[in-house]
Amino acid sequence: MSVILLSTESSKGLASCLASRLGAEFVDVDVKVFPDGESKVRIPKQLDGKDVIVVHSTHPPVDKHMMQLFFILSKVSRVAANTIVFIPYLGYARQDREFLEGEVVSISTIADIICSYNIKALITFDAHSMLALSYFKVPVHNISAIPLLADYFLKHVSIDPNNTVAVSPDAGGALRVEEFAKLLKCKYIVLKKSRDRVTGEVSIDEHSISKDSLKDKVAIIVDDMISTGSSVITAIDNLKRSECKDIYVTCTHALMLNDAYKRILDAGARDVIASNTVPSPASKVDISDLAGKNITSILATHIAKSI
Ligand code: R5P
Repeated sequence: MSVILLSTESSKGLASCLASRLGAEFVDVDVKVFPDGESKVRIPKQLDGKDVIVVHSTHPPVDKHMMQLFFILSKVSRVAANTIVFIPYLGYARQDREFLEGEVVSISTIADIICSYNIKALITFDAHSMLALSYFKVPVHNISAIPLLADYFLKHVSIDPNNTVAVSPDAGGALRVEEFAKLLKCKYIVLKKSRDRVTGEVSIDEHSISKDSLKDKVAIIVDDMISTGSSVITAIDNLKRSECKDIYVTCTHALMLNDAYKRILDAGARDVIASNTVPSPASKVDISDLAGKNITSILATHIAKSI
């Protein structure tokens, strides 16, 4: 029995590459958005008894894409033999705890809804935190795009490892930057970032940047995602004071709100390199091959046959 891969405009380019990689049939889900903002979803294919992979990123507008995902899953799970959901960018993962008293842990609600559709597994890339994934009561496969981002730098940016420092803007990215630096065989540092939980304002402790370790070096800021660009731009502003030679930025999910791509370049970054979990001008690194390899083995594990 063959596998059907369903997607919408949210992930169409990525999903069609993935379908060819897997030799799966690609079905483009028809989505209409009415003037009041409601989405209407139609799946133009009989899915009875089929194995289905739903590929749908939940980047901005996050709520619209999330609702569309729920609608697709509700339809697919009623008729398909097996359903696997691949959410390249998992929105709401940053709302993984009660930061201020009384806040809703939104990713837990999202997880409950997605898991209610009898899915065999969830696949995602570089989820914001392991805590966010812990709310999903189905097998979760969290794939790292860091090797692909590092490979891009090795192949397309002339990097001298002895003259390069990878930089995490915050402590939450320490393991990520360590993995990236290992692949580039360069040093890394972790900055101390804080965000005002009421205003959202970002600041970086300037003492977490040692001028000695960065002077005349190439700094590569590594983050899981760029949303408004505030974290990265604040890091760039601080790094510039350390007299580093050049600054690059890399991340998995480039949401690029408020013209963030241009603002990051204007702030002084030489280039911004992201994966294509989310479409953006920075999304230069294709994850479809890596996703395909993982999905082939995930299918074999959860559906007890491979394609
Ligand atoms: C935060 O912990 C994340 O890793 C990102 O650094 C952050 O969410 C990026 O958001 P923004 O671009 O709005 O600063």
